[in-house]
Amino acid sequence: MRADMTAEAARTDTGAAGQGGARLLLSDVGMDFTQPASGQKLTALEGIDLEVRPGEFIAIVGPSGCGKTTLLRLIAGMTVPTAGAIAVGDSAAASARTGFVFQQASLYPWRTVLRNVAFGMELRARTPDRRQRSRRAVRRHAQDLIRLVGLEGFEDYYPHQISGGMQQRANLARALAIAPELLLMDEPFSALDAQTREELQIELQRIAVQTNTTTVFVTHDIGEAVYLADRVVVLTGRPGRVREVLTCPTPRPRPLAYQVSDEFMALRNTVWELVHST
Ligand SMILES: Nc1ncnc2c1ncn2[C@@H]1O[C@H](COP(=O)(O)OP(=O)(O)O)[C@@H](O)[C@H]1O
Ligand SMILES: [Mg+2]
Repeated sequence: MRADMTAEAARTDTGAAGQGGARLLLSDVGMDFTQPASGQKLTALEGIDLEVRPGEFIAIVGPSGCGKTTLLRLIAGMTVPTAGAIAVGDSAAASARTGFVFQQASLYPWRTVLRNVAFGMELRARTPDRRQRSRRAVRRHAQDLIRLVGLEGFEDYYPHQISGGMQQRANLARALAIAPELLLMDEPFSALDAQTREELQIELQRIAVQTNTTTVFVTHDIGEAVYLADRVVVLTGRPGRVREVLTCPTPRPRPLAYQVSDEFMALRNTVWELVHST
């Protein structure tokens, strides 16, 4: 992985340099499901109020089954909340410039790594409000991102020919390729080995700061949440409600050594207590 690629790839002409992230507003959001077997109502989320500033990095933690994935799906517009309202920027739903990195890489199996990463750019290149980008420029930018996530040399491989961790790297590169104004990530690094996870945490931080992308990052790793986020939102057990929101004051991007600082350790302990007492 080449750290020096980060700024270049983040700045490369996707039309978003300097535009930055969207504001996100959740007002009294609730989600009820009907359970498939019993037909009974299950309240997954209740009364979620949250305002995320443009460019802010939010981590969401909470016990398993508390509705973290559901919350991301609601923000993404994949599911409609049964209560409350969600606004991304000026619109009521996530825009075309929302990037997703979910737990399972969701690459197109019939496209190579390069063509998966280029997919969003190819779509955008056709929109009338954007200057037509040449295939070569798209390819070059996709290659920059592939290098950024450490997949150089695997451009022409198909998803089934690479490991799960590599698929997740490609997934991240694809999400970044559209220069998202909102990046939604659901435990994206949980399947990676510790060293790869650390590398991608560092790259993600740099990219998110450089592009000022608003990021909502779900993780069950409390240390990861405190390391990466401006604020950590702790949800209660089901139904998920906002238990507490903690601010991590040290500016991003943070050096690895932040993880041995007093601030980090105090915050991590506080979050741990909150998660384990819900
Ligand atoms: N489509 C669905 N239909 C019914 N129940 C669901 C659906 N999606 C999620 N749930 C339920 O909502 C709750 C929260 O799930 P989820 O958001 O996946 O939690 P988390 O990601 O925090 O582990 C769980 O009890 C889950 O079974
Ligand atoms: Mg989940």
